[in-house]
Amino acid sequence: MTTSGRLPYPIALTGDGIQLREWRDEDLEELVHLLDEPDIARWTPMPSPFDPEAGVAYLKRARQSRANGQRIQLAITAFGDKPVGEVLLFGVDAGLREAELGYLVGASYRRRGFASTSLSLLSGYARSTLGLSRLLLRIDPANVASCAVARRCGYQLTGEPPILQEGPYGSSSLDTWELVSAGGGTRLERLRNVAARRYGRRG
Ligand SMILES: CC(C)(COP(=O)(O)OP(=O)(O)OC[C@H]1O[C@@H](n2cnc3c(N)ncnc32)[C@H](O)[C@@H]1OP(=O)(O)O)[C@@H](O)C(=O)NCCC(=O)NCCS
Repeated sequence: MTTSGRLPYPIALTGDGIQLREWRDEDLEELVHLLDEPDIARWTPMPSPFDPEAGVAYLKRARQSRANGQRIQLAITAFGDKPVGEVLLFGVDAGLREAELGYLVGASYRRRGFASTSLSLLSGYARSTLGLSRLLLRIDPANVASCAVARRCGYQLTGEPPILQEGPYGSSSLDTWELVSAGGGTRLERLRNVAARRYGRRG
C-alpha cells in the first residue's frame, strides 16, 4: 500500500508469458467479446447481456476505482497486447492486511493457464509490494473451474460460513479460500484473523 493508503496506479505486472496492464478505452470491443458469455453471467456479478453500453460503463468505473486507489483491476494480456481476461484485487482491509481477489478469462482462452498465472502474479504482488498477508477468494463450490484455479495457486478453503448471494441466474453460496503458502502467517494468526472478521477487531 502507498503511504496514502491508496492502491498504486498505474501498474503493469509481467511473468510466465502474460502481462497484466490497466484497461484502456480502446479495449471496449474485446471487453464486450470476453464478458458477454454465460459462465461469466453465472459466476460473476457482471450485467448480462454485456453489451457495448455495459462495456463503456464498466471501463468508466474501472478507471474511477483505479484513480481513487480503491481496487486493482487489470486486463490479462497475451498474444501481443490483446486482453484475454481480467484479474482484480479489492475490499482491502489495511488493519487486517487483507484483500479479496477475483478473475475471469474469455471462453475462447480458457484452460491455458491464464487465470492461474494471473492470480499467482497478482497474489505475489499483493504480498511482496502491497504488504497484504491475507489474500482471499470467494467461490461457489459448483464453480469447478474457479476452485481448480484457487487450488493450483496455493489457496485453501477456510472454515468460514458460506456467503449467500442472489443473482439473476441463480443463487450462489460462496466459500472463502485463503492463500496459505509461505508468508501466510501461522495457523494461530489465521484463526485470529477469521475471528476478527467475524466478531470485529479487538485491541
Ligand atoms: C474460472 C476461470 C477464470 C478459469 O480460467 P482458465 O484460464 O481456464 O484457468 P486455468 O487455465 O488457469 O486452469 C487452472 C486449473 O483449472 C482447471 N480448469 C479450468 N477450467 C476447468 C473446468 N471447466 N473444469 C475443470 N477444471 C478446470 C485447469 O485444468 C487447471 O487445473 P490443473 O491445475 O489441474 O491444470 C474461467 O473458467 C472463467 O472465467 N469462468 C467464468 C468466470 C468465473 O467463474 N470467475 C471466477 C469467479 S469466482
